[in-house]
Amino acid sequence: MAKTITTASLLALKQQGERIACLTCYDAAFAQLLERAGVEVLLVGDSLGMVIQGQRTTVPVTLDQMVYHSRCVSRMAARSLVIADMPFMSYATPERAVDAAARLMGEGGAAMVKLEGGEPLVETVARLTAFGAPVCAHLGLLPQSVHQLGGYRVQGRDAADAERIEADALALQDAGASLLILECVPSALASALSQRLRIPVIGIGAGNGCDGQVLVLHDVLGLTPGSAPRFSKNFLAATAVESRAGHDGDAAGFSIEAAIKGYVAAVKSGAFPAAEHTLA
Ligand code: KIV
Repeated sequence: MAKTITTASLLALKQQGERIACLTCYDAAFAQLLERAGVEVLLVGDSLGMVIQGQRTTVPVTLDQMVYHSRCVSRMAARSLVIADMPFMSYATPERAVDAAARLMGEGGAAMVKLEGGEPLVETVARLTAFGAPVCAHLGLLPQSVHQLGGYRVQGRDAADAERIEADALALQDAGASLLILECVPSALASALSQRLRIPVIGIGAGNGCDGQVLVLHDVLGLTPGSAPRFSKNFLAATAVESRAGHDGDAAGFSIEAAIKGYVAAVKSGAFPAAEHTLA
């Protein structure tokens, strides 16, 4: 990965049919390691509320905390594109969204901001992009709405729900979104949307027909407090097994960096997500 990754290079990867590797990242040490391992997009996700702070949901995460972690990551990321999550309610109006994006990009050094939700955010996305803030949309399971959804469940299973997600995705793309994260939707819906949309679609629990994949770093390393979601994979454990098999007990191939490289290779080849990580 030689050149700096931009929204244009992500679009070029989609057009060339090369899958995009994305992981969450919350600090400088991992920013350096993930970038070295070939991860193109570092998402400073508000999942940090759960995996770093031990909160039950992402709702308590504040804008100050997101700015702090974005700055830690972006200081060290020379080439990877850094996306910062806009925390709960920080984009409840277009004006608040502009103020929050100014902090995440200005103080936090992010190159893109991410927000959760569909058609009601069209004006906000248009406003942000008009002022020069690239936007990653997020549809499907919306973790910030967990209290309204009543739990972390697969979305888009029935036809009406799938149609709403598709309409939302098209509206957000038309409003100027540069990227879409689709979380916990059936893989057929995610594949169809990836083909229909011009912008890259990054899946999480959305099957391997997307233009790229994202996982929570702590799931990939087996560090998640409690149990990791079924669609994720512990690449550190998988690398340890391969290393033992391939090197007859030699641990040389077993490291966090090797695990991240394994994730990148599996995303690029389409080996991840496999059938057992795919939700129907
Ligand atoms: O906050 C986060 O880490 C995310 C990913 C799960 C996509 O939004």
